[in-house]
Amino acid sequence: TTEETLILVKPDGVERGLTGEILRRIEAKGYRLVDVRLVRADRALLAAHYAEHEGKPFFEPLVDFMMSGPTVAVRATGHRVIEGFRSLAGTTDPTTAAPGTIRGDLGRDWGLKVQQNLVHGSDSVESAARELGLWFA
Ligand code: CMP
Repeated sequence: TTEETLILVKPDGVERGLTGEILRRIEAKGYRLVDVRLVRADRALLAAHYAEHEGKPFFEPLVDFMMSGPTVAVRATGHRVIEGFRSLAGTTDPTTAAPGTIRGDLGRDWGLKVQQNLVHGSDSVESAARELGLWFA
């Protein structure tokens, strides 16, 4: 089944000049980029995007980090792209993310309160629809 998903190159990825490398990996895997925007996220957008994390200890640092610079928002499509991109991205913690993944190859743990782990990918069809509506409103 062809799906669509929201992928974010977070402010650390944009700041480090890794946008091209990350988009290259997505395209090389065979997914299609159908819309790409540079977004300066505000608190309202991030509170909605990260609603499920509200109250967690990393929530405020996460929102502050995501407001620290521009994010590249991508609408990508492909067969099983939701699961496929999460596999490309690797696990949340860059220290233990598998080599070969975006976070495993390019991410590092800065010892901060929030994982600055380069990318985000929607985790289900429902969250993809919700998140695409927020970032491509
Ligand atoms: P993301 O996939 O965008 O979703 C929530 C984000 O919160 C996650 O990537 C990380 O940036 C961050 N995060 C998730 N869990 C933790 C954690 N245990 N400690 C610090 N940051 C986290």
